[in-house]
Amino acid sequence: MSRPAALVTGATSGLGAEFAQQLARSGHDLILVARTVPRLEAKAVRLRADFGVQVEVLPADLLTDDGVASVGARLADPARPVAVLVNNAGFGLVHAFEGNTVEQEADHLQILVTAPMKLMHAALGPMLARKDGRIINVASVAGFIPRGSYGAAKAWGISFSRFANLRYRPRGVTVTAVCPGFVHTEFHQRMGASMGRIPKWMWLEPDVVVRQGLADSAAGKSVSIPTRRYATLIALSRLVPDKVAAAAGNRGR
Ligand SMILES: NC(=O)c1ccc[n+]([C@@H]2O[C@H](COP(=O)([O-])OP(=O)(O)OC[C@H]3O[C@@H](n4cnc5c(N)ncnc54)[C@H](OP(=O)(O)O)[C@@H]3O)[C@@H](O)[C@H]2O)c1
Repeated sequence: MSRPAALVTGATSGLGAEFAQQLARSGHDLILVARTVPRLEAKAVRLRADFGVQVEVLPADLLTDDGVASVGARLADPARPVAVLVNNAGFGLVHAFEGNTVEQEADHLQILVTAPMKLMHAALGPMLARKDGRIINVASVAGFIPRGSYGAAKAWGISFSRFANLRYRPRGVTVTAVCPGFVHTEFHQRMGASMGRIPKWMWLEPDVVVRQGLADSAAGKSVSIPTRRYATLIALSRLVPDKVAAAAGNRGR
């Protein structure tokens, strides 16, 4: 019996690397997508050695049409089915909307909205034909509060996953938005954000986020908010005025 395959975008670091590892541990072959070839190759060597699974590397820049098209073509290939798609690649912008160029804002929407939308579209056809598939969109708790273009883009991921899970789960394909709070990854360092003011209790480790995200996806949930403390914070944020929720969110991404 061949193993099911999972394609993870942004697999060279942080949450994507952790998704790849946990999916390999649970018996998935992998397709790893990111831009940095040496890091992709190193991850692949490690995963093959540690878990005995097959690992393809698929270098692609998801800010480019060619990069998205090459990943979409791999997902749509009926001869090489992909059972799990994890739309995870992303970055934040250190400045607020008015402080960025319009090109930076457009790239931000490309990586957080347009690329995941196109990859879901490519994956969905074969998944529905097989009546089997799992799609995970890595969103953020920022998608529940007024939080600039990052929060708005993540809100799209949450809203679309809620719609798509309702529509496609009865046809065998689940769609889950995983919404972490602050996680120790390279995200904030790449963004150039100083995070010293974030209290220790608000930080999560990638393994905890991914374990709960995968469990909620396997349970067919449309939204996963890892840890009870963040689920409580988000429930409370719905009860307070936007101004209060936005002030809390202003502490970081
Ligand atoms: N860390 C947090 O606190 C946090 C909280 C909530 C949500 N999230 C979300 O979690 C997701 C993963 O972020 P992370 O925290 O794991 O950050 P990270 O450690 O910086 O990892 C980002 C990954 O995305 C890849 N990537 C970036 N730009 C890309 C591009 N143009 N094309 C292809 N791949 C690209 C990077 O690889 P290359 O540089 O090799 O391309 C890297 O593998 C993001 O969607 C982020 O919004 C993070």
